[in-house]
Amino acid sequence: MKTLTIRRPDDWHLHLRDGAVLKAVLPETSSHFARAIVMPNLVPPVVTTADARAYRARIMAALPEGHRFTPLMTLYLTERTEPDDVAAGFESGEVTAVKLYPAGATTNSQSGVRDIEKALPVLERMAEIGMPLCVHGEVTDPAIDIFDREAVFVERVLDPLRRRLPELRVVMEHVTTKEGVDYAQDGGDNLAATITTHHLIINRNAILAGGIRPHYYCLPVAKREKHRLALRKAATSGHPRFFLGTDSAPHVDPLKECACGCAGIFNAPNTMACLAHVFEEEGALDRLEAFASLNGPAFYRLPPNEERIMLARQEEPVRYPSRIETGDGAVTVFDPMFPIHWNVETKAG
Ligand code: DOR
Ligand code: ZN
Repeated sequence: MKTLTIRRPDDWHLHLRDGAVLKAVLPETSSHFARAIVMPNLVPPVVTTADARAYRARIMAALPEGHRFTPLMTLYLTERTEPDDVAAGFESGEVTAVKLYPAGATTNSQSGVRDIEKALPVLERMAEIGMPLCVHGEVTDPAIDIFDREAVFVERVLDPLRRRLPELRVVMEHVTTKEGVDYAQDGGDNLAATITTHHLIINRNAILAGGIRPHYYCLPVAKREKHRLALRKAATSGHPRFFLGTDSAPHVDPLKECACGCAGIFNAPNTMACLAHVFEEEGALDRLEAFASLNGPAFYRLPPNEERIMLARQEEPVRYPSRIETGDGAVTVFDPMFPIHWNVETKAG
């Protein structure tokens, strides 16, 4: 049997939600991952260090016995965020990063930033103290086609911001385009990008060809095939500033399967198996550890995990549930549309 042993991975972009959904989805992450950057887009959002402290306590209370997992907390940037609070949270270790959602770009982003000028005092302070800014990189201008919103964001918002504050450490979250990849690649030491599992596997046909499939809808939306290929190349290249952020984003099925369904793909249960498949296809299994376990901690200036996990390739396809039950209803698991042969043999540490 073919096996692969790598350092325990981390997820540098994860939605854990709250309450019954948190309880049900957290073990799916903590059985494979040691740490995760936890998104703050709850309702109401996680805005202050005190909010992050309280949310972290709810996450730890939901963790199954025997699981070891470190949530790395983020704050949701608003136009009223206090630089002192952000800096205090970073310096105490309670907060790892700040998340910029352009207002209206995605799920629960209404309280996000409309005018980036208003957030400059916080961003300047972050640049001074070396605190990373995680960016949802899409413009919200209704005149811009949804498939172009990432490329236009780089041009109109991100590049001018980085020219103004070159010391600001930025993570382009879930890049989905060749333009995004190219910009990240050439961006120097203060710029990194995360890539999701699903954007390495699907293009926009998965959502739209032969019927509309809401479980493949997320934001940024999957693009043309040439973009998927650019993402695969970046992820499997070993380039140190590309790393895994699953963007696993559970919504209960009725909220996806309706006339105006939510954006989000729930891939926590089978992410590592899907990634092993992708990296094997690309002849890059030896680079999976860099993508999932080494490059992220290096950018976030944290040590890599000491523990290892083992993946094994089996002849028979691995069986895994197509949905998981939560106290609020079922959540459908990402279907990569190929049989999965890789299995994570080492579970919770
Ligand atoms: O697909 C997405 N789902 N993209 C986001 O940016 C937010 C996320 C969510 O919270 O559901
Ligand atoms: Zn997300």
